[in-house]
Amino acid sequence: MSFSEKQKELVKQSWEIMKQDIPALSLYFFTQVLEIAPGAKGLFSFLKDTDEIPQNNPKLKAHAVKVFKMTCESAIQLREKGEFVVSDTTLKYLGSVHLQKGIAAPHFEVVKVGLLRTIEKGVGEKWCEDMKAAWSESYDQLAAAIQAEMTKEA
Ligand code: HEM
Repeated sequence: MSFSEKQKELVKQSWEIMKQDIPALSLYFFTQVLEIAPGAKGLFSFLKDTDEIPQNNPKLKAHAVKVFKMTCESAIQLREKGEFVVSDTTLKYLGSVHLQKGIAAPHFEVVKVGLLRTIEKGVGEKWCEDMKAAWSESYDQLAAAIQAEMTKEA
């Protein structure tokens, strides 16, 4: 099924709301990820040596924002181009960073659950099944592209 205009709008609108609360939502996102997969802590340079998730850490915020923003871009492209397209350089970079950090398919699933829970929290009463499905689809396409690049480079 192709990505609809409504799905694209649901993703864009929810990201507009979430953008206003980046520090809190980034923290929530990492809290969710570590709750599901405590072992993921060792993967992140800004988490591995601390007992608590650091507040206001720029790297922590940057990773959360990248994941959200790129998923949002993925939604726009799925609608406008019918597929997820990102420049080869960006994809190569994403592939090599994650390969080097030892990220594997299960991690992408964990991050997906964390992402969806964070959107649910971020948008409050606007949350609905259609919004969840739209973000899921966009994230899956993006994650698949990164993982395909990782396989190529491995
Ligand atoms: C680094 C994006 C999924 C773990 C990065 C960087 C980007 C990025 C852009 C480089 C940060 C920088 O140099 O500024 C994404 C996107 C994802 C994704 C768009 C999914 C769609 C994941 C997953 C994991 C992960 C599933 C593992 C749970 C990491 C780690 C780093 C990293 C450990 C290095 C960060 C550090 O220690 O400073 N990611 N990522 N990423 N990513 Fe991801």
